Amino acid sequence: MADQNYDYDVLVIGAGPGGYVAAVRAAQLGLKTACAESRETLGGTCLNVGCIPSKALLHGSELFEEAAHGTLAKFGVKTGKVELDLPTLQAEKATAVKELTGGIEYLFKKNKIDWLKGRATFQDAHTVEVAGKAVTARNVIIATGSSVTPLPGIEVDNDKGLIVDSTGALALDRVPGHLVVVGGGVIGLELGSVWRRLGAKVTVVEFLDALLPGMDGEVRKEAGKLFKKQGMELKLSTKVTKAAIKGKKVTLTLEPAAGGDAEALEADCVLVSIGRRPNTDGLGLDKIGLAPNARGQIETDHDFRTKIDGVWAIGDVIPGPMLAHKAEDEGIAVSENIAGQIGIVNHAVIPSVVYTFPEIAGVGLTEEQAKEKGEIKVGKFPMLANSRAKTNRETDGFVKVIADAKTDRVLGVWCIASVAGTMIAQAAQAMEFGALSEDIAYTCHAHPTHSEAIKEAAMAVRGKPIHI
Ligand code: NAI
Repeated sequence: MADQNYDYDVLVIGAGPGGYVAAVRAAQLGLKTACAESRETLGGTCLNVGCIPSKALLHGSELFEEAAHGTLAKFGVKTGKVELDLPTLQAEKATAVKELTGGIEYLFKKNKIDWLKGRATFQDAHTVEVAGKAVTARNVIIATGSSVTPLPGIEVDNDKGLIVDSTGALALDRVPGHLVVVGGGVIGLELGSVWRRLGAKVTVVEFLDALLPGMDGEVRKEAGKLFKKQGMELKLSTKVTKAAIKGKKVTLTLEPAAGGDAEALEADCVLVSIGRRPNTDGLGLDKIGLAPNARGQIETDHDFRTKIDGVWAIGDVIPGPMLAHKAEDEGIAVSENIAGQIGIVNHAVIPSVVYTFPEIAGVGLTEEQAKEKGEIKVGKFPMLANSRAKTNRETDGFVKVIADAKTDRVLGVWCIASVAGTMIAQAAQAMEFGALSEDIAYTCHAHPTHSEAIKEAAMAVRGKPIHI
């Protein structure tokens, strides 16, 4: 039953994975709920121009590569001449996006959540204006997400398709001859993989001396080797300082990160993927006296309360990894807290996955972080010795289990494997339950599965894997 003094018990700003999940949970808990979203469809960046469309292109491009480069033929599947029909692939992507965003609309209707179409701006802590109308709520949840960090001097224009961000790179209507990716993080490697598989030459320019900052050091090194083996050119410790467009070509000026002689690199398309930043512009935070921190994020306490009474925040707009599943879990927790329950997110156990081939996934501490905290034991197992991976002819990668040397408690698990994104779930669950490496080692794993590599890596922590 809504509080008589307000239009709603809960008003969520933003309908991405954080916001829509918060709205659904709030409604499930009996709170009168609205969600403000200015995009034409629900689901935010993830469903519209992020996780979901990229997975459609990753899947389609993987099928194309399997057919075009002999993987299918090796297993006796004769395909004849393989051709790419890019409009059909793009249409399939659009259908998946439409089905999934439509699914959220259905959930809103089912849970009687009012979708307020427009951008929301605070007037005071309990009043926001959406499309010229003032709406009041006892609780407001800021779930406005993030957007692409611009690279000074290099202007993105997705319509022209020459210098694009992730949104533009998902919508290209041709395979670029040479795609230069600026930033060797998650987006650059996933979308770089898509276009490489579809026929582009791909060069990744990364400021640091290894790809995928934040991940385990050994994983980053191995990832570099694998992407090189697949034909990506990597220019590490390099920065882009300028871009000049002439006709249908872009000439980039590259410089060593540490300074030195510049070089020119010509591209048919440039993808800028150097990170994302929280969306707080135009929210009217000044009206409620809530200032973002130095990194532009809104700070909250453990319960996702901001320092303004009745105003909460979750997802990419608050500190922590910018991941849809982190935002979703925070969405559930914040609404449970608003409803007087105890909503908790264990930020120490949030898996992250790069959906390349092979996939790269991790949860918990990197080996470097774990070593800083104390003595550790590490067990490793190569996918080459895993029977299922070997049979499928996908032997690149390894699993690594990091455990506390004294207590044997698992501190981190890292996988590079064709299905690492699926495998990492068991590691996250084990860690959530406070597992020891021994617990994983003595859990019966189905044979033959890729997941047996996690069991064997756990056995290797005590030096006793079977298959190596
Ligand atoms: P990122 O932070 O993953 O990677 C950005 C990369 O650009 C870093 O390696 C950084 O060192 C490099 N860089 C920064 N400035 C540079 C410069 N001037 N020149 C060259 N390199 C430079 O950011 P990305 O890939 O843009 O992704 C943004 C966010 O979206 C991330 O937080 C990521 O977690 C999330 N995301 C997650 C996905 C997943 O979970 N599978 C997929 C796509 C995005």
